[in-house]
Amino acid sequence: MELLKEKIKQEGIVLSNTVLKVDSFLNHQIDPVLMLEIGKEFSQRFADKGITKIVTIESSGIAPAVMAGLQMNVPVIFARKRKSMTLINDLLTAKVHSFTKNETNEISVSNKYLTENDQVLIIDDFLANGQAAIGLIDIVQQAKANIAGIGIVIEKAFQEGGQLLRDKGFEVVSLARVASLEEGKVTFVSDKTAEVMK
Ligand code: G4P
Repeated sequence: MELLKEKIKQEGIVLSNTVLKVDSFLNHQIDPVLMLEIGKEFSQRFADKGITKIVTIESSGIAPAVMAGLQMNVPVIFARKRKSMTLINDLLTAKVHSFTKNETNEISVSNKYLTENDQVLIIDDFLANGQAAIGLIDIVQQAKANIAGIGIVIEKAFQEGGQLLRDKGFEVVSLARVASLEEGKVTFVSDKTAEVMK
């Protein structure tokens, strides 16, 4: 998605060879106009999948997921990372280990909002090692719902998550695929290379 890649080039800050900071439009301050375009893009890319629900994880997945839900006219469920005072019963849970942060969280979703008739689109802001997505997949499968696809705003293609999910047979659509963050510079996987990789 050209608009997103331009935004990353202009405002993204390369913190290291593995970490890209996008606090100005995605992870802290949010650009609603860009999020709306991202929602439209996801809606178009998954238009033929009969999506009935979107599932994401707090916190930074929520903005792009809500915009996609708005465009697709379907509800958006976000998995919680911390226990909620009101969300106690009938929880579907999964453990998610973050290699980046070296911590494991138990994420949860109420089984009230997912049924076996649902066609679920999983959305997240970043795809790195794929552990958050694997946790969400686990939860959706516990509800016996079908995973119709996975939409990612920024995939770090040099980490293993994308390959892991595609090898499991999931359709992963990433709106920007970062090939490398070497020498302080963001290089994207060119669209031609992406076509070959499909
Ligand atoms: P994984 O789910 O793909 O295995 O990723 P990992 O555990 O490595 O990532 C942990 C957190 O760090 C996630 O957010 C993920 O979105 C974020 N993250 C990973 N790589 C980058 C990066 O290069 N840049 C930025 N900005 N974030 C990255 P989180 O802790 O759940 O944060 P939030 O959703 O509450 O904002």
